[in-house]
Amino acid sequence: MSSAASQRGVFITLEGGEGAGKSTQIKRLVARLAARGIEAVATREPGGTPGAEAIRGLLVTGDVARWDAVTETLLHYAARREHVEKTVKPALQRGAWVISDRFADSTMAYQGHAGAVGAARVGALHKLVLGDFTPDLTLILDLPVQVGLARAKSRANTAGANAAEDRYERMGLAFHEALRKAFLDIAAAEPQRCRVVAADTDADSVEAALWAQVAQQFKLPL
Ligand code: TMP
Repeated sequence: MSSAASQRGVFITLEGGEGAGKSTQIKRLVARLAARGIEAVATREPGGTPGAEAIRGLLVTGDVARWDAVTETLLHYAARREHVEKTVKPALQRGAWVISDRFADSTMAYQGHAGAVGAARVGALHKLVLGDFTPDLTLILDLPVQVGLARAKSRANTAGANAAEDRYERMGLAFHEALRKAFLDIAAAEPQRCRVVAADTDADSVEAALWAQVAQQFKLPL
């Protein structure tokens, strides 16, 4: 076996509030990696396995107040454990890169900081469920809350979108402002892992900015 084939892949996560354009950017990032001969698997949270997608349905639809805050956090971690064990780790082990639309920073921001659970409990739960399993690089797409929520709303009206998946979008402006601050605080606390990219521009500019970060981090040609 060549050393390239036996090397562990790279785990990249995209994070941010609502309407940041993560899914569009993940498709573009996967295409750029493929053009350089790198197999990249696009996945998402909550989701990424059949069981985790079933849990996703419980989390992203329905009444804003349908879950106790700790129960909700446990559901996210139940989905995450499935995703990591059955999708992420096997792909990394065969040398593929994994690009995930959201990961643990979303729980820290949504449930830990903006929600009622608190950062300490989310951190302890992560350790219990996943140990020190952490992304190699996290790209945080940042944009003004009102811009993101308006984008998310118009996207929900497009063909193929699942308009019912708006439980978090309905959580109110103060929640979303706290969320934006939480992601920026996470980035400031872990500068070696996290990069903040402005997402309030056209998709081509965001794509170029994200690629510049990935290329620099992993020494790929621009
Ligand atoms: P999205 O895939 O469209 O971003 O929707 C997933 C929603 O779930 C989004 O509103 C953020 C929320 N979420 C959490 O609250 N905690 C988490 O740990 C994750 C992964 C997502």
